[in-house]
Amino acid sequence: TIRPVHTVAELREQVKSWRAAGERIALVPTMGALHSGHVALMEAARAHAERVVLSIFVNPTQFAPTEDLSRYPRTLEADLDKADAAGVHLAFVPDVGEMYPEGFATTISLAGPALGLETEFRPTHFAGVATVVAKLLIQAAPDVALFGEKDYQQLQVITRLARDIDLPVRIVGVPTVREPDGLALSSRNVYLGKEDRAAAPALHRALSAAAAQIAGGGNVLDAVDDARRAVIAAGFQLDYLEARHAASLAPVLSRAEGPIRLLVAARIGATRLIDNLAVPD
Ligand code: PAJ
Repeated sequence: TIRPVHTVAELREQVKSWRAAGERIALVPTMGALHSGHVALMEAARAHAERVVLSIFVNPTQFAPTEDLSRYPRTLEADLDKADAAGVHLAFVPDVGEMYPEGFATTISLAGPALGLETEFRPTHFAGVATVVAKLLIQAAPDVALFGEKDYQQLQVITRLARDIDLPVRIVGVPTVREPDGLALSSRNVYLGKEDRAAAPALHRALSAAAAQIAGGGNVLDAVDDARRAVIAAGFQLDYLEARHAASLAPVLSRAEGPIRLLVAARIGATRLIDNLAVPD
């Protein structure tokens, strides 16, 4: 299996020697507990670069005090095996002190696609994500970095971050990997009990129905209302279900306003799930 490196200095040294040999570098940032969704990112990365760096870091600054930081699944040995099998060349596994040295006092402040949706429910989340991702992109200095569409708002926030602060990296989005019944793969799915797991595909079903309704010329707000009702009827407590512009994430009322993305966050039992879907043109 691949040997993980734990310090920024070791990461930079390896990347520097690859660069000197004229090789391109792709970075796949993760929090570990790797599943087939992460594997899809690692495999996609190989198509973009000669060398693939995986980072595994459960980033405390993107968890609120009430969230699941301490019980977030940690499976490093299995993760390294999966990374190896997916063709990853280097795993960067810093500890908290390496990423946030004593006295760390800087965070990235966001607007645009970070406003609304997740931010209504997790107000400090994207500042933590953007700060750690900016650090990882500066530390690894990759040509390309890959992120899943599963976390669609995160993908838009990071795309805008890279553009706004001139990070010399191409941000690539990878389609969501799903279970056969439609549930999007997530490290948090392990929290779902049997009944909640059985109800969970309702999220994707509701979004699919709404997307088809809108694509067929149906009214956007009616389609969104129907989908909200379906999610609640399946036993979820709804945080939001919205139709947004696919790039800016601004609210949209009709298809004429541009490509539409449907986004949902809902809680079942103690587990909060998110999903999203493109409305086909
Ligand atoms: P994590 O939840 O571990 O996800 C790492 C990457 O895998 C993210 O880009 C996420 O969108 C992608 N991913 C997760 N499930 C997926 C699925 N079913 N299909 C495709 N891609 C999927 O997202 C984070 O970590 C963190 O916020 C991070 C970006 C690493 C910053 O800490």
